[in-house]
Amino acid sequence: MFINKLKITNFRILQEKEFNFTENINIFHGDNGTGKTSILESIHYLSTGKSFRKCSFKSLINVDFNYLNVFVELVNDDFKNTISINKSKSGLWKARFNNSTITKQSQISNLVPVVSIDPEVYRLVDLGPINRRNFLDWLVFHVKHDYLILWKKVQKCSKQLNSLYKSKANTNEIDLWEKSFIEFSEQLNEVRELFYKQIQPIILSLTKHMQSDICNLELEYYKGWSEVLTLKEQLTKDRKRNLLYGQLQHGPHKMDIKIHVLNNPASQVLSRGQKKVLSLSFYMAYIQLLQNHGVKPIVCLDDLDAELDDNKLSKVSEFFIQSNLQLFITTVLSNKIKKIFTNAQMFHVKH
Ligand SMILES: Nc1ncnc2c1ncn2[C@@H]1O[C@H](COP(=O)(O)OP(=O)(O)O)[C@@H](O)[C@H]1O
Ligand SMILES: [Mg+2]
Repeated sequence: MFINKLKITNFRILQEKEFNFTENINIFHGDNGTGKTSILESIHYLSTGKSFRKCSFKSLINVDFNYLNVFVELVNDDFKNTISINKSKSGLWKARFNNSTITKQSQISNLVPVVSIDPEVYRLVDLGPINRRNFLDWLVFHVKHDYLILWKKVQKCSKQLNSLYKSKANTNEIDLWEKSFIEFSEQLNEVRELFYKQIQPIILSLTKHMQSDICNLELEYYKGWSEVLTLKEQLTKDRKRNLLYGQLQHGPHKMDIKIHVLNNPASQVLSRGQKKVLSLSFYMAYIQLLQNHGVKPIVCLDDLDAELDDNKLSKVSEFFIQSNLQLFITTVLSNKIKKIFTNAQMFHVKH
């Protein structure tokens, strides 16, 4: 599946834009501030309902208008389908697949899986566990669509429990909700761990290939509670503290992929460039694993050449060329990128 046509209306600086793409590599080049990143952002937004930049949804809508629209025509073998989404400043979200209404964002995420890598990708290594949790959860979701149902069940139980702890509710009620929480959390953990085990060796081997000077890299899956306790035992042990703080102290909402280099947290010892390369290895492994599971994501690479030396850039580019996926790349330096991606379709983005 690939995006054949994209129409953008009132998305950031782009009031009316239309593109016809190749199913291989598409490159947007042009000066700063012309809207290159916004084009990728519109594709990412259609797929996930979120931006990869930190912002409110209102800032995505062009300042002079009250709504935005993103329309794509998808080609799947010989079939063509269309998806369009509309978001208004009041928060109303509407979507259509061909002539029928879509009510859930997740349906679009299933139809058009998009993986975006932006210049702030190093956050994955540098910042808190939530970044790595989201990373693993999206990976599982793109392969196992019903994962979202399980994930929502855990969310619901933990929300309920937190409010019961806060209100110091009666023990029977807490016991009942903890029982459901344990059941769903254990199922969730099992799936996460399964995918972690698959992606871990790919990350290690890609990092070695990309940057062999990252010494003694170790990845460790932390499920969110003690290795030596069952979740039931953990909750029993935590009960007093959960009631005291009005919040679950342990559970799958604390899951993390801990990254250590030379026995220290990677965030504390790696340079920013190394963090970027390591994070790129995570995403490349993600894409490789999706393909192993038969999922062909669309890949957006924003400012691909930013902060990468020529050697790393050529290794990353080679990986993506060989992936045979539909790529959307932005760059300020078109000549360098043009030489690497010789068969790409180029789009000059101007003010
Ligand atoms: N909601 C908006 N309405 C109008 N213009 C916007 C909006 N949000 C951002 N912009 C403008 O878009 C431009 C940045 O676009 P961007 O896609 O980041 O450019 P590039 O990637 O080509 O550097 C800036 O000029 C910014 O002021
Ligand atoms: Mg940009």
